[in-house]
Amino acid sequence: MHKRLTKKQRFLNACGRVPVDMTPIWIMRQAGRFMSAYRRKRQAHSFIEMCKEPEIAAEVTLLPVQRLDVDAAILFADILLPLEGMGVGFSFTNHDGPVIHNPIRTANQVNRLIISQPEDSLGYVLSAIKLVKRELGSDTPLIGFSGAPFTLASYLIEGGHSQNYLITKMMMLKTPHVWDALMSKLSKIILLYLGAQIKAGADVVQLFDSWAGCLSPYDYAKYVMPYNKTILTGLKKYKAPVINFATDNAGLLELMGESGGDVIGVDWRISLDSAWKRIGYKKAIQGNLDPAVLFGPASEIKKHVRAIIEMTAGHNGHIFNLGHGVLPTTPESNVKALVDIVHELSER
Ligand code: CP3
Repeated sequence: MHKRLTKKQRFLNACGRVPVDMTPIWIMRQAGRFMSAYRRKRQAHSFIEMCKEPEIAAEVTLLPVQRLDVDAAILFADILLPLEGMGVGFSFTNHDGPVIHNPIRTANQVNRLIISQPEDSLGYVLSAIKLVKRELGSDTPLIGFSGAPFTLASYLIEGGHSQNYLITKMMMLKTPHVWDALMSKLSKIILLYLGAQIKAGADVVQLFDSWAGCLSPYDYAKYVMPYNKTILTGLKKYKAPVINFATDNAGLLELMGESGGDVIGVDWRISLDSAWKRIGYKKAIQGNLDPAVLFGPASEIKKHVRAIIEMTAGHNGHIFNLGHGVLPTTPESNVKALVDIVHELSER
């Protein structure tokens, strides 16, 4: 039997492809609505208030660690928070998700975007990190995160979530200099922000390129990858592992690996073993249970988990996760069962 590791050793070992005692697991959107304790808190505060009040953000960050036994905390925040410091107004609506008040579509608008210091515009996030770290102690790692340039650009340009990303893609193709100016600014802001999160205490950071899967590999390589590469290369000096995540990225795996990061996050539309083979075993991998499986019977959850864990045989460096965020109506008991099943089936 392998010596018992702390959650932090387990997680950092997996990021570095070093053997572990059992597969570490965390869950995207674990600090959110599927938890009754979150929904109770949310009745008294708006989402943005909860993000901006470090004590509440820290408390929500800790909920899944306390209740689910996951191997890492992820900071309760949102990828859109840096927009305010850029001078862009937005709000979260209860039904349509986030809305950007004045979408960014012209060279002048891009020029006016502010590159502020995260210590000034996002001090509340950094304070929440410090509070969480004090509570977590040295045994459990904290994941910080940022949206990636493309995903943030798509919100800025479209003004919210989009079906086809047409306005975004047309900025790329019709005014590549405006696209470059926007992506360059976003890359600087994201690098500063992730660096500040690590300095405040984040042990690992994840770059969420959630919507990059809408791109052809040709456009990803030309219009997105160079900026992600700048960020991922720039982060190396902080010595914290980086998870490079996108959904629907089966067409982009080789390019994502080439962009950088220690761990590549994949969703369920590809089998984990073929994804890992294509990325190469010099990177760790994160994923990739379909979030819908958590609505199924425990026996099915177990079968799906076993299939994923069996695909990792012979290689070090798997972090278990869903392929994308846990859905808000997921039964809480099934999420807890998932964590226990992953630990039980992967124990060595
Ligand atoms: O993973 C975690 O638990 C940490 C917290 C976290 C949130 N958002 C909390 C949240 C993280 C990492 C995010 C990232 C995020 N936010 C992404 C990338 C992740 C992904 O899903 O690919 C994106 C695209 C956003 C933007 C965003 N924020 C949307 C589209 C929405 C509304 C739709 C939705 O799914 O809720 C939000 C709101 C949001 N972010 C909530 C939470 C808990 C719900 C707020 C509420 O009503 O309580």
